[in-house]
Amino acid sequence: MARLRTAILISGRGSNMQALVDAAADPAYPAEIVRVISNVPGAGGLERAAQAGITTTAIDHRDFDGRAPFEDALHAELTEAGVELVCLAGFMRLLTEGFVERWFDRMLNIHPSLLPAYKGLHTHERVLSEGVRFTGCTVHFVRPAMDAGPIIVQASVPVLPADDADSLAARVLTAEHRCYPHALRLVAEGRTSIVDETVIIEGAGGPAGITLNPDDGIL
Ligand code: GAR
Repeated sequence: MARLRTAILISGRGSNMQALVDAAADPAYPAEIVRVISNVPGAGGLERAAQAGITTTAIDHRDFDGRAPFEDALHAELTEAGVELVCLAGFMRLLTEGFVERWFDRMLNIHPSLLPAYKGLHTHERVLSEGVRFTGCTVHFVRPAMDAGPIIVQASVPVLPADDADSLAARVLTAEHRCYPHALRLVAEGRTSIVDETVIIEGAGGPAGITLNPDDGIL
């Protein structure tokens, strides 16, 4: 079966991108990474992607007069590459409703919290200051509102008494690196459908009471 032609959009070091690239290195994985695009020309992730043999593009948002022209260039690049699905992985630009509509149900994002809690920036600092006991990460389909959209996969991690923002971020990041390849697999296999803005996963159903995700086991 043809693998889903996937692009990854980044702004920084690209560790989630690397997790997706590593997963897709297996020819049996249902998605292939055909482009890595960054809005930040010097982003570390571009170098990592190039080392993995993936075509990379930098489209600097500062070269454009406003969001829409920047997104038009992004869209043209994605279309030219025959991209079928977009994965945002630490892509730190808000996207306009127009762009989101063009990739409706064909764009995923990862966020370092258990959405809908802690949208936006500085999630770990806010989690710590409010004393919550669990946090985690979420992979979801992108909708126009920031960090909103039907949830595909989540994983939780504990918040420990000795944590600071860095130690908590590192624990959440480990979960992110497991969740994103898992979510992309589910989507690329065609196992996800969206009903009333809720994701239904075909074949889901794990051990009752202890599943972290609506899937067939713990990640
Ligand atoms: C990740 O923790 C990702 O969840 C977060 O940025 C980091 C990127 O790291 N994304 C957001 O906060 C988006 N709202 P990475 O470049 O190493 O993947």
